Order: sequence, then structure tokens, then C-alpha cells
Amino acid sequence: MNYKKYIAEKFDIPSLSPEEREELLCLPPSSEMGDFAFPCFRLAKVMRKSPVAIAEELAGKYPIDDVVVKVSAVSGYVNFTVDRLTLAADTLEEILEKGEMYGSSDIGMGKTVCIDYSSVNIAKPFHIGHLSTTVLGGSLYKIFSFLGYRTIGINHLGDYGTQFGKLISAYKHWGVREEVEKGGIHAVNDLYVRFGTEATEEMEAEAREYFRLIESGDREANELFDWFKSMTLDYVNGIYDKLNVKFDSYNGERFYSDKMQPVIERLEEKGLLKESEGAKIVDLEPYGMPPCLILRSDGASLYATRDLAAAIYRKNTYDFDKCLYVVAYQQNLHFRQIFKVLELMGYDWAKDMVHVAFGMVSLEDGAMSTRQGKVVWLEDVIKKCVEKAYQTINEKNPGLEDKEKTAETVGIGAVIFGALYNAKIKDVTFSYDKVLSFEGETGVYAQYTAARCGSVIEKGGLPAEYEVEEMEPSELEVVKLLASFPDTVKEAAEKYEPSCVARYAVDLSQKFNKFYIDCKILAAPEGRKNFRLTLTWAVQRVLKNALTLLGIGAPDKM
Ligand code: ARG
Repeated sequence: MNYKKYIAEKFDIPSLSPEEREELLCLPPSSEMGDFAFPCFRLAKVMRKSPVAIAEELAGKYPIDDVVVKVSAVSGYVNFTVDRLTLAADTLEEILEKGEMYGSSDIGMGKTVCIDYSSVNIAKPFHIGHLSTTVLGGSLYKIFSFLGYRTIGINHLGDYGTQFGKLISAYKHWGVREEVEKGGIHAVNDLYVRFGTEATEEMEAEAREYFRLIESGDREANELFDWFKSMTLDYVNGIYDKLNVKFDSYNGERFYSDKMQPVIERLEEKGLLKESEGAKIVDLEPYGMPPCLILRSDGASLYATRDLAAAIYRKNTYDFDKCLYVVAYQQNLHFRQIFKVLELMGYDWAKDMVHVAFGMVSLEDGAMSTRQGKVVWLEDVIKKCVEKAYQTINEKNPGLEDKEKTAETVGIGAVIFGALYNAKIKDVTFSYDKVLSFEGETGVYAQYTAARCGSVIEKGGLPAEYEVEEMEPSELEVVKLLASFPDTVKEAAEKYEPSCVARYAVDLSQKFNKFYIDCKILAAPEGRKNFRLTLTWAVQRVLKNALTLLGIGAPDKM
């Protein structure tokens, strides 16, 4: 049963709709105060009274029944206490019934969300900096799908630009086909880096010519380009598999080469295009932004031009309700400009575009990531985490079956969780020891807790029925948290913040472990044992659901 909804309907405040009341209901700081709290501060203006007086008045009027058994007013809040045994029974029943779908919803039914994420650059290293966009976008994709939205994952490939001319020139001068084939993306990147340091004037001119050849459809130039592209995609797809993310479209910048003309025409029609030093721009000064460059003086398009074409294409193709861009905050200005230009072009859906910005990830050994031409490849970070996870597992549980597979799930989970645990806008330092700790606020801790639940169930079984006649405080805390999972998933979607789910997983693990220490499970008297076993089963189920939304697996044993 949806308690918030129940309370909101009975809670008679004429100036707010039941939906608004429901929205405002939150969790009080402790269970002693109640199970739900309603802040009265916003009502002070309409009701012309102090929040404290309003809370008292409203609390006095609320009709108590056998669902809501106590109501009180405390410093401007109305606190509600529900019948907790019913809450426990309802919650467990719902988890038993919905299983891996517990937490899902149909609020997104009939709506479409496009998510532009990862968006790698062809022939460039896939490094630690791409971790956040890939796992944040991947998780948002899962969260929105779980809430019933049609979700379109888009990898807006960086596959357009003069750098590909440079690459062809470097390959022509220094490349050996077999070696590049063997070395893959690393060899391609080496060529590109070498061009940066060793290219002569003639090679620079040659590179421009090669770029022109790619553009004009020259066969050889395009074959080489396609080769580099497919090598990059083979490589990144291997990483995507490990990180458990997928895409519905790989339409990158190049895809829009022939879709920019109509954009430019519409800009002209609307009188938005201005000349500036031979280039064409949209003046954004009235909005406090530098101009948005549309065409360079040589007629070449820009990153922004392709993004405008891409946005329009996405609207026409998917008719999205929201279009998200999971891109680092360094591109804040770029997206503000794009969204503003779309608005000026008269597209009312410009308001549905969202830049989901995030902070930087650096490695604790900062020196490694900055040395020129020597970046830290994400694949190496993953490999190291898996190796370290293997060592730890081998020490803790040498007899475990399938240690390699478990280490893979734990190591990769640690990388993903490490990138998703903090509010996304924060800059974070990636520390191997921290993300792999069994005790900290980590994915490993949540996985370990889920496995612990599993081994309790293995011993005690999931009982066919249970009764609940009383609960210890630590049992109540677990029940309440389990009951709030569906709200957590919605909050994560509303805020574009998978960290809500990651924090939830840690919180639930902590509360379960407190219960595990406080209360005997297997050795409890028969009446309470069945309830505790069912509760343990539910915790494992919900932990797994939470981890799945982050793209993380949960080994049965650790
Ligand atoms: N490839 C770009 C980069 O690495 C990110 C692209 C983001 N998506 C977009 N539609 N602009 O910086």
C-alpha cells in the first residue's frame, strides 16, 4: 500500500492538491518521531500563521484510523506514525510478489527519454575521464526504463573532424598494416600522438587534404577512416560489455554531415545568422553568452552545428519528452548555447533538453594521468580492480568456487560504484583501496551484504509463511527502508542522480547488518524466525534490484 498517498488523501489541506501533499511528505529524522513527516513552512503564507501553529492545527484535525495510528506536531512538522506491523506485512508482501520488479513503476508509460552518453571519440583513448559519462548514462538508462519510460541510449560518436585527416597522414607515413591490426586502438592512438609531435608543415597540409577527401567521399580515405572507426568500436564495445551498458544508436557527428544545411537555412530564415569576421554566428550577447559559432570562415561546420542538427533529428525521430546529455561540466557553456539557439529557432521543445553535468574523476596517483601522451586507459583501471578483488577474495575465502568470475563481478562493480556513489557534480579522486573496501561505503560492501543474506537463506530457507507480532527497532528500520525503495528510484530519476540508489544500497546494507548483529535469525524462536528469514530474503532481493539499476552484479557467494 502507498502510505504517502493514503495520508495525503486524508490530510485535509484545501490549498494543496493530494498530489502536492504527497510530494511534500518526507521521512522524519528518527522512527521515534514517526514514519512520515509533513513540513508546514510553505503553508505559512497562505494560512497567515506560523508553521508551528499550522502543524498543531492540522495534526489535531487528522482522522486517526488503524493505518495511521498516531499524529503529532513537532516544530512546524506534522508527524505520522503508521501501524508498523501492517507496514512490515504490506512491504514484504509487495517484495515477494514483485521480486526483481520491486521498485519499478509505470509513471513513464507513453513517454520517451533520449540519453546521450559515453559518446566516445574515434581513434582516441577511452580513458578514466569517460568512466562517469558511461556509467552515469548507463544507470540513468536502466532507471528510466524501470520507471516505464521508453529509453533511447545514444552514443554520439566523435567521428568528424580534421583529426581524422591527421590520422590518415600519420598512417600513410609511419603505419604498417599488420602492426596496426595487431595493436588495435592503442596503435592507432600512437600514430595520432606521433603526428602531434612530429608532423611537418607538408604533413599538416596533407592532413587537411585527407580530411577533405573523407568529406568528398573518396574511397581510399573512407576505407581507412572506417577501419579506424571499427577498431575503436570493437574496442569500446568490449568495455561496454564489462560495464553492462548498451546503446540503441551510434549515430555520431558524421551522421549529421548532410543534415546541417536545413539547420542553417532555418537560422537564416529566422534572421539569427550573423557574419562575424567571415564566420557565421548566432549572437547570444543578450543572454549573457559568447556567440555560438555555426560556420567557420572556410565554410566548415562546428561541434555546435552538428549538435543542433542532432537535437532536431532526435526530436523528429524519437519525439522525446526529455533529451539528456550526460557530459562533463566543462561543456556547460556549449549546452547552454545549444539550448538557447534551439529556443530562438522557435522549437518549444528546447525546454525539454537537459545537460546532466558531472565532475572530474582523477586517479589518486595524479601523475600517471597527466603525463603528456600517456593517459590512463579505463581498461587498465578495470583490470587492476579485478586483480585486486581476486587477491582479497582469495585471502578471505580461498575455497570459493568460481573465484575468477566473482572477482570480475566485484572488481567491475567497485569501479562502477566508485563513480556513482558521490553526487555527480563533485570532482572525485579514484582510489583502488577505497573502492575495493569490504567495509566502507562501497559496492563491495553491498555485494557482500547481499551474499550474506543469501547464505542465511541457504541455511534457513524462505518460509512459506510468517507472522509478525512485534518488531525490534532494528527490524523496523530495515522494513522502513525497504518500503522507501520505490521512492528512491523515482528521486534518482527526477534528479538525474544514480547516487541516490547507490547511497540507498549502502544504507540498506548498514541497516541490515545492524539487524543481523542485534537479532538472532536462525536461532530465533519459531514465530520470529520466519519473519526474520523473509526480511533477510527481501533485503537480498532489494539490494540486487538496486545494484542492477547501477549496472552491477551481485555474486551469490563471496
Ligand atoms: N565526444 C564529445 C567529447 O568527448 C562528447 C559528446 C557529447 N555529446 C554531444 N551531443 N555533444 O567531448
